[in-house]
Parts: sequence; C-alpha cells; structure tokens
Amino acid sequence: MKQNYRIGVIPGDGTGPEVIAEGLKVLAAAADKAGFSYELVHYDFGGERYLKTGETLPDGAVEELRQLDAIYLGAIGHPDVKPGILEKGILLNLRFALDLYINLRPIKLYPGVDTPLKDKGPADIDFDVVRENTEGLYAGAGGFLKKGTADEIAVQESINTRKGVERCLRFAFEHCRKRPRKKLTLCGKTNVLTFAFDLWERTFRELAAEYPDVETDYAHVDAICMWMVKNPEWFDVVVTDNMFGDIITDLGAMIQGGMGIAAGGNINPEGTAMFEPIGGSAPKYTGKNVINPLAAIMAGQMMLSHLGQAEAADMVERAVMQTIEKDLKSMNAGRMGMGTTEVGDRVASRLAAL
Ligand code: IPM
Ligand code: MN
Repeated sequence: MKQNYRIGVIPGDGTGPEVIAEGLKVLAAAADKAGFSYELVHYDFGGERYLKTGETLPDGAVEELRQLDAIYLGAIGHPDVKPGILEKGILLNLRFALDLYINLRPIKLYPGVDTPLKDKGPADIDFDVVRENTEGLYAGAGGFLKKGTADEIAVQESINTRKGVERCLRFAFEHCRKRPRKKLTLCGKTNVLTFAFDLWERTFRELAAEYPDVETDYAHVDAICMWMVKNPEWFDVVVTDNMFGDIITDLGAMIQGGMGIAAGGNINPEGTAMFEPIGGSAPKYTGKNVINPLAAIMAGQMMLSHLGQAEAADMVERAVMQTIEKDLKSMNAGRMGMGTTEVGDRVASRLAAL
C-alpha cells in the first residue's frame, strides 16, 4: 500500500477554514497512529480570491489538482458574491473537470446523536446515497429564448448518457456488494420522466443480472422522501441522478443529526477524489469558534478510506463516536458544550489514546 500522499487543501469560504483546520489536526493524529505520511498543498480558491482577482479557478489549477492523491475542501460560497458564481466556477467546475462522477454521501446516525425521527435509532438509519455527480440537470444544457420579454422561454435539460448512467450504477452495485446487507435501491421518477429514468431503469436491470448477490429495489423520488422519514431502515444503498441526489441527501443529513455531521466524497474511482463537509459556508457562524467540525472530520475519514488507509479511517470514526457519546452536548453550532477547536482537539486526543 502507498504510504505517502499529496493532499490538496481548499479551505474556501466562511466556516470552511475553521472546520478544515480541525480536520487536519485529526488527519495528523491518524497519520501518527497508522504510520503513513503526507504533504499538504494549500490553495486559496474561494470568495475572497474571487473578489480580489475576479478569478474562480486559475489557469492550470485543474491539471495541478489532477496530480494529487486527494483534495480536502471546506466550503464554497461568499455573502458578497452573487449566488452561482463560486458554486459553478469552483465546486461544480472541479466535479466536472476532474470527472468526479460519484458523490457518495453516508447517512449514518451515530449513538448519542439526536434525530428528528421519533422512535428511530442508529440501527434504523445507516445507508449510503450514491449520487451521479456530472450529468443530469447539472450539465448546464439549455438556455433562454426571448429573454426579458413577455414571451420568454427558459429551457434546462437533464442530460443522461448511457456511459454516465452505467458507470454510476456500476459503482453503486460494487459499493453495495461490500456492505453486509447488499440491498440497492434505484431512486427515480419513471412515472413522469419517462426518457431519463427509462434509461436508468433499463441499465439498472441489465447490471442487476451481473450482481445476483445484490438485492435490488426501486422507489420514486417523492416516495423515497416519505420512506426516508417513515422507514429509513429499509435502505442500505440508494443510487440516483444528480438533482434527486442533491435533494434527498439534505433530507438524509437532517435525519442523521444535521449538517454538523454530514460528509461527502466526490469520487472518480479511477482517478482523484475530493472530500467535503456538505453543510456549506455558514456565514452567520464564521469566525466564532462555534461551528461543528465533525462533518469536516468525517470527510477526512472518508478520504482516508478512499486512500486505502482503512485502519486509520476506522480509528477516526471510533474517536468521533467516543467524542459524540462522551463529550458533546449537541451536534448544532453553538450548542456543543465546547468550541470548534476543542472538538478537534478532543477527537485527536481520543484517537491518539485508542
Ligand atoms: C451540494 C451543494 C451543491 C450542489 C451546490 C453548492 C452547487 O448543494 O454539494 O449538495 O447542488 O451540488
Ligand atoms: Mn446540496
């Protein structure tokens, strides 16, 4: 196994730098314990840089990032920059340019974390969403006709390629096969989106024949929003397109205890990958040492797992679980019973003591 990594760090905007600093503390503790080493390459991409230079990603950035083993991202989004510019220019741009075609988002309720779901506990809420990350409504296909007139037309098309759908579904089947329950649910809208989800469903059925050990199921996206609240224990791995994946993973984040804990990985299984807390830049909490860094720490945990450092990843998860059970009052910003930096210190020291 490789033992030395080059990791790109993009702290980004708002609370991004604060939570990434804690994630890096835990990464250092994990490296000490597991005996691997790494070099960090820092990038200042984000709102501040854009306001100063007018640049989102500079020339050559993508080629440079492509050479790294992984990218660790804080948050993108700045109150003084028009919505869409940084998201499109940095986050979506990296997802597309690096062909990070999988967005993997675990929905796991840890013991001691509050869920708004009555009578549900950690045994009921433990599934992964595999979101397609480069196509669908995010592809940017469409445009305006007669913009600004009374006859204006806006078209935004969902792009679904056989190749894009198949590689996402294949990743989901392979991923599901590694989990004990081996149940894969396709989430779509075959009753209305009869072209896009016809392609998804046909490809899903074809691949299912190659994976007889994986049980398959289907749910419409509206129904899955209902089932995720009523019967989350039904799900093991859910695979879906980009837009539906965006929506259902915010719902997922809430049932697993909120944005303070929700992490995700933008992955190209054959190339590099970028890990991030999914909560955004949270301007109102910025600079106050109140934001929960566990989502960023868990994004780091996913990065370790992706890099093949299974033992280190496992240790981070255990240290986080201990911190939740023994030290934290709540997952919510400002109500944790300690500050952002103390949470990072605590996870790192618990990890060192494992
Ligand atoms: C997410 C975010 C992004 C998305 C935004 C910031 C572009 O909501 O990562 O889920 O829609 O994918
Ligand atoms: Mn989202």
